Amino acid sequence: VDLEVARGNARRVARYAREHGLSWRPHVKTHKSRAVARIQLEAGASGLTVATLREAEVMADLTHDLLLAYPPVGRAKLERLTHLAAGGTGVPAGNGDGPTRLTVALDDPGVLASLAGACAEREVEVGVLVEMDVGLGRTGVAGPEEVVALARATDAAPGVFFRGLLFYPGHIRSREEEQAGPVAAVGERLAGALRALEAAGHPPEVVSGGSTPTLWRSHLLPGLTEIRSGSCIYFDREAVEVGVAGPDKLAYTVLATVVSTAVPGRAVVDAGSKALAKEARAGQEGYGFVLDHPEVLVAGLSEEHGILDLSNTDWRPRVGERVRLVPNHVCVSVNLQDALLARDGEEHRWLALEGRGRGPWTG
Ligand SMILES: Cc1ncc(COP(=O)(O)O)c(C=O)c1O
Repeated sequence: VDLEVARGNARRVARYAREHGLSWRPHVKTHKSRAVARIQLEAGASGLTVATLREAEVMADLTHDLLLAYPPVGRAKLERLTHLAAGGTGVPAGNGDGPTRLTVALDDPGVLASLAGACAEREVEVGVLVEMDVGLGRTGVAGPEEVVALARATDAAPGVFFRGLLFYPGHIRSREEEQAGPVAAVGERLAGALRALEAAGHPPEVVSGGSTPTLWRSHLLPGLTEIRSGSCIYFDREAVEVGVAGPDKLAYTVLATVVSTAVPGRAVVDAGSKALAKEARAGQEGYGFVLDHPEVLVAGLSEEHGILDLSNTDWRPRVGERVRLVPNHVCVSVNLQDALLARDGEEHRWLALEGRGRGPWTG
């Protein structure tokens, strides 16, 4: 990881958000690191977004404004969540100066009822964002009527209060210049939900959206108040191909060593699916590329072998040569590492990934 590049990325996203009257609440699933979260907060992030309770516990004493953008289903998660809302963290000393303000995104009346029950039992209050599907087809209620129904149910329940609307436009992964239509379609769906909430007397205080592929178009969405873009701290092959970042903004690479050139037209490196992650992206061949030879794709992966395709290059790597690989999707590659070697100017140090795993954070 190049921390100077990461800091530059954080500053650029924070500045863009500020210039457009938006907050930036980065998703920490990309880096899972307290040190990197601090970089984001120092650059001007308004809070942090998490997906797991482990991430929430790890980040709780860094910010007092945490969003769990994942449905909290099941007793164990609710217990950890309400413990945090009551001012506890996984760190035994607690976070010192007051409870964490917690907001949770959900899309189901049963999940809302369990959350409300758990909060009431522990005498804590948690904010709720109702999630609406805007095209990804993963989570989120279908449209304005369901959004209003959940907003009403939230305000009627104990222990929870309605804060607003959340969506994730993860279906838009086309090149930037082809995004106008899909982004406008998301805007229309959003506008419909916002009109319905206003009419029902539940105006949202927060409208949370954004993704890295659509990052620089976030201001075109009506009513948006915050963006959760997370991959933008490091960027990846997808971001470069979409056009949202140039290769000079890539802050994370997998340093690998060429271990074989015996098969003509190929070089094999010691980074396979257990280092790069075997995540295919629609419309893209391969699993990554070589930073200094972008014409060379990681064409295939087995667990510990990465196959570099040399058919489009004059470069002939030697056994023992080191290469830096850019994965298709940075978040899943980061999650495979025990720790990250970070370069900070002239210095090198190890970055811990405290947010990895599922178990409780014990500091
Ligand atoms: C709910 C949610 N919010 C925000 C993000 C961050 O988006 P990106 O990875 O495009 O930065 C993700 C990523 O998967 C997500 O699932």
